[in-house]
Amino acid sequence: MGKGFHISKTVGIVGIVLGAGALATIIALSVVYSQEKSKNENEVQPPDATTSAPTATPSNEPWDQWRLPQTLSPQTYNVTLWPRLKPDPTGLYIFTGMSSVAFRCEEKTNLILIHSNKLNMTKQPTLTALGSKPAPTIESIVMHTKTQYMAIHLKDELAAGESYELYTEFIGELADDLGGFYRSEYNESGVKKVVATTQMQPTDARKAFPCFDEPAMKAVFYITLYHDPATIALSNGVVIDEVNVTADGTLVTRTTFAPTEVMSTYLLAFIVSDFGFIEQNTDKLQIRIFARQEAINAGQGEYALNVTGPILKFFEKYYNVPYPLPKSDQIALPDFNAGAMENWGLITYRETALLYDEEISSNGNKESIVTIIAHELAHQWFGNLVTLRWWNDLWLNEGFASYVEYLGADDAEPDWNVKDLIVLNDVHRVFAIDALASSHPLSFKEEEIQRPEQINEVFDTISYSKGASVLRMLSDFLTETVFTQGLQTYLDYFKFSNTVYTDLWHHLQLAVNGTGTSLPKSVQEIMDRWVLQMGFPVVTINTTTGQITQEHFLLDPESKPDRTSEFNYEWFVPISWTKKEVAQPLYWLLKKTDQLNDMKISVDEWVLANINVTGYYRVNYDNDNWQRLLNALQNSRQSIPVINRAQLIDDAFNLAKAGIIETTLALRTTLFLNSETEYMPWEAALDNLDYFYLMFDRTEVYGPMQTYVGRQVQDLFDYFTRLTNWEDVPKGHTDQYNQINALRVACSTGNEDCKTLITGWFEQLMANPNVNLIKANLRSTVYCSAIAAGGEEEWNFAWEMFENATIASEKDKLRAAMACATEPWLLNRYLKYTLDPEKIRKQDATSTIISIASNVVGQPLAWDFVRANWEYIYKQYGGGSFSFSNLINGVTKRFSTQFELQQLIQFRDDNTHIGFGSGTLAIEQSIERTNANIKWVEKNQEAVLEWFKKPS
Ligand SMILES: *[C@@H]1O[C@H](CO)[C@@H](O)[C@H](O)[C@H]1NC(C)=O
Ligand SMILES: *[C@@H]1O[C@H](CO)[C@@H](O)[C@H](O)[C@H]1NC(C)=O
Ligand SMILES: *[C@@H]1O[C@H](CO)[C@@H](O)[C@H](O)[C@H]1NC(C)=O
Ligand SMILES: *[C@@H]1O[C@H](CO)[C@@H](O)[C@H](O)[C@H]1NC(C)=O
Ligand SMILES: *[C@@H]1O[C@H](CO)[C@@H](O)[C@H](O)[C@H]1NC(C)=O
Ligand SMILES: [Zn+2]
Repeated sequence: MGKGFHISKTVGIVGIVLGAGALATIIALSVVYSQEKSKNENEVQPPDATTSAPTATPSNEPWDQWRLPQTLSPQTYNVTLWPRLKPDPTGLYIFTGMSSVAFRCEEKTNLILIHSNKLNMTKQPTLTALGSKPAPTIESIVMHTKTQYMAIHLKDELAAGESYELYTEFIGELADDLGGFYRSEYNESGVKKVVATTQMQPTDARKAFPCFDEPAMKAVFYITLYHDPATIALSNGVVIDEVNVTADGTLVTRTTFAPTEVMSTYLLAFIVSDFGFIEQNTDKLQIRIFARQEAINAGQGEYALNVTGPILKFFEKYYNVPYPLPKSDQIALPDFNAGAMENWGLITYRETALLYDEEISSNGNKESIVTIIAHELAHQWFGNLVTLRWWNDLWLNEGFASYVEYLGADDAEPDWNVKDLIVLNDVHRVFAIDALASSHPLSFKEEEIQRPEQINEVFDTISYSKGASVLRMLSDFLTETVFTQGLQTYLDYFKFSNTVYTDLWHHLQLAVNGTGTSLPKSVQEIMDRWVLQMGFPVVTINTTTGQITQEHFLLDPESKPDRTSEFNYEWFVPISWTKKEVAQPLYWLLKKTDQLNDMKISVDEWVLANINVTGYYRVNYDNDNWQRLLNALQNSRQSIPVINRAQLIDDAFNLAKAGIIETTLALRTTLFLNSETEYMPWEAALDNLDYFYLMFDRTEVYGPMQTYVGRQVQDLFDYFTRLTNWEDVPKGHTDQYNQINALRVACSTGNEDCKTLITGWFEQLMANPNVNLIKANLRSTVYCSAIAAGGEEEWNFAWEMFENATIASEKDKLRAAMACATEPWLLNRYLKYTLDPEKIRKQDATSTIISIASNVVGQPLAWDFVRANWEYIYKQYGGGSFSFSNLINGVTKRFSTQFELQQLIQFRDDNTHIGFGSGTLAIEQSIERTNANIKWVEKNQEAVLEWFKKPS
């Protein structure tokens, strides 16, 4: 799956927030998932022929286990589904289906256990033999709703080595729950339209038809869809037959698809819609982009179509395996849980992740589209052709795609330097989480991940971003040639089957041995330390003594890791470094403390380590070297690579937070910014100052901090004024991002020229709403700032624009901007809108609440709102997935006083009877974080205030 967020470059203003948007979006996506999941918990009764299992005490019976027995293995399925896009007389949307599965019996058994969830059987299932021996008769059928099985008990045994076919007919609800076979709705020219679509990963194929729903149970699928003749049907394969038939007294089209390759159930997709599409046919490959007809007519699919062909070509070369299918369809859906889903040959997207409009979409929208497309296309081989055996290894699948998405995007947009941005978007982001005592290792044991909730929980930042970071490190120290060579033999060897992550290590080792690459340890020995233990080291280099040490980096110096590690929290660390500006040979730190005399330096030199942050670790130095690096930043910053300018800031702030260096040293890493025009260092600084704003924007520190930040950004603002006078779009990709930073921060720190600009633009827009001349990149900032400065009139104007917007990315910008209002009653009204799906789509409700909480004015309102509506919110969102916790974290992240701590504890105690579901840990973490914030503020406020008054 694609992460499901694009990194928001456009966040609050007027000193409200300096960079908190992306998290909120991630949260929203996954929370909606849990919300929707919990909604359908009403027990589904089986028909007459079957009985429901008593909700008895757990036992060791196979149907009480979460994993399928290995007795049967599916070979082919023949699935016919008919979704009804109009409700039945009771108002229910349904689909009907019939499915047969041919399977081989591997071990004799008198039980067929097959996944089936929320499906009602409409006919007694039948079993036939495909070989010479007759099939046993069915004794009874029991539905196990908890473990999501249909258990078919047989009078006699199935014989090992024989094949059988199980046939079922069933009915299911086409609910708006974003899982399995579900429906999405939208309006087009005032007409309500319904789409039937699917999201199977990880465990919802069983909600569409009975199946052996585990990734290693690969099979061939024959798919047929019935649908209204006015609609089109899509699935993984190409259409091989289309006829009109009469069924249930109505004329319907029956579309039959070519059988799939051998594949996993979680990668299936079935879609019926009246969408439009555009296409491009090259040699043997058909590429199509589908979306709402209005969106297609407006050309919003064009960018996706432009980049898909080249990215597929890039990956064919990178993997040295041809694209495995005859077609590649991609489709944008109005209601979609994740960012995107890599269904084989039919990739599904959120609208914001696929649709691009030259005039309306920002540069950031464009980047997220091309990287998400690259991510999903990368999975067509890595993940789909070769699939991890079980969800405990998800990190390799997602981490890999999250790494190579940058390579694919870079190939499509070679001028962007997009590969550098992995450092901000993934490495720095996940450092913050992986530095907690409560983090977890990349790899789980297979038996740790059993239940659907546990499987859902694995889709987290650690799997995606840490996975990407350590694979990037691996590719870097092996060299890309060796890395891709191992990758290519791995894909070729395991195509159409399943693996565990050590299979990749094995093939990389073969490549290492074959090329004579020198490594201090085997690939597996090196990687075990990054994969099997959580966290990462801080490497301390003493340039006076030449001593190098590593230590497990923990943000809270008083915390103890929740788990023990068989490697004692030591790593094999590849250290790239320069002395002055000269690159030195890669040095491997293989123990806790080592000595490298080369790192001793004379007075006018400095050492810099982890060049371009290819390594997954932080670096600390002796104080003298820090001083020299600070001098270099001030006086000759070009001598330090731009990524490392960002690294020095991010490392320093985090080392300070962990109490390893002084907070004022961290603040001093921002002094050089007044002459810096590059995006990465600025962004790293703003991300870190965001915490200072959260802690201090209601204290006396706020004034001097604003003055300092305003002074630092002045030159940047002037630079962009000189560059384009805010009329043209800067050429460079990251310059465009930094232009946004300049505008946002200048305005939020009270720069009058900036405010005049923004107010002028917005007034112009309000005077003539049909001609929006505000540059697409700057819209989020302008909207937010104007709404913050304005009142009801501005807000209502934005609301109307929101309702009329025809592209989802514009809607998202307005939705976030409306949370910037500063009048409490507007924010309260907006909070209420989140309870009304007619106003705010359910998939967007929680991210809206979190945006409001990010606003210093909205924070207490959102907190009150969440408390007052706790029972409702819990019922909607508390169900399963990890990200419910993010709602709680989002609403409480500013807490830093005793009073807030008391409120939080009170809230926990008052609601124990309702519970916190998957947010249970988050409540405890919030309390722990509030405590830590109180301590940090107490310890640092004075010094920080003094420093901002006299920065030096
Ligand atoms: C699939 O099932 C349908 C209806 O039962 C049948 O007409 C068709 O021949 C089957 N296809 C295959 C490939 O078995
Ligand atoms: C399945 O059966 C249950 C119980 O009879 C019923 O409430 C539910 O609506 C049925 N589902 C469908 C899609 O017909
Ligand atoms: C099915 O019927 C529709 C509407 O009558 C018609 O437009 C379409 O061409 C027909 N399709 C086939 C395959 O006959
Ligand atoms: C797509 O490619 C065409 C042809 O190169 C180009 O004219 C068009 O501007 C591109 N569209 C987008 C949105 O990039
Ligand atoms: C690689 O070479 C080492 C040292 O010669 C050997 O021990 C190891 O078995 C080889 N590994 C593979 C996968 O060939
Ligand atoms: Zn993915």
